[in-house]
Amino acid sequence: MLIPYHIGFRREDLGEKPPTTALLCGDPKRASLIAQSYLQSSRLLSDNRGLNSYIGTLNSGKTIISTTSGMGASSLSIVVNELVQVGIRQIIRIGTCGSIQDNILPSSIVISSAALCKQGAANDIAPIEYPAAADPFLTVAMAKAAKKLEVEYHVGITASVDTFYEGQERTDSANPYLIRQLHGITQEYRYLNILNYEMECGTLFKMGNVYGFEAGCVCAVIAQRTVGENVIIESKESAIHNAIKIAVTAVSDYEEDVY
Ligand code: URA
Repeated sequence: MLIPYHIGFRREDLGEKPPTTALLCGDPKRASLIAQSYLQSSRLLSDNRGLNSYIGTLNSGKTIISTTSGMGASSLSIVVNELVQVGIRQIIRIGTCGSIQDNILPSSIVISSAALCKQGAANDIAPIEYPAAADPFLTVAMAKAAKKLEVEYHVGITASVDTFYEGQERTDSANPYLIRQLHGITQEYRYLNILNYEMECGTLFKMGNVYGFEAGCVCAVIAQRTVGENVIIESKESAIHNAIKIAVTAVSDYEEDVY
């Protein structure tokens, strides 16, 4: 196999029993954190273009990949396509998000069951109406993991958009003009029982259903948009560790023959 151009490693680089599960983070530092703190005998597979990827073994004995999608759906779509080419069949995105509901507080966790997908990349993969639904079994496995870990979590629909500022109705930005159709969008999503904003899972979910792999998403809440636009740095680290632990527990406890 030729080396996939962006991720920079091949199936042959993954050992005799290549893993089929990947934990996928937007931030390369988070992919390294997982490798350092949650994987035994981890080794760097590639850091091509800042897309750090590691292989290693969880305490449960399961070998997985910890890898980086980069920011946003376009970059994620490239990485995910190439991960599937090297044999990955189960992907959990571990991200951060902004809550748009009063009862979903910073440092809690959102597990996305589906997405309102407002992403250009996804339209190259499936028609706009195609459902952006997470794998139901992986979603349940994460909810069970959160319960087991006694972490505050919420399961529901995520607004997955292309921009951090305009698409999430932020006005505290360099853009002096928010287009008319975005004024009040957060309130509308709130009424539609959408839980949070993030920037990748809608495309990931559509890809999972089209390509035939299991896709899930767990995000740490780092902004409370019913209160303000800012990211709350103080609680970010512990919330991210909770999101990682949920994903790690879910893939460790996952009973393939049951689902
Ligand atoms: N990620 C987002 O996309 N939005 C937020 O508000 C926080 C993290």
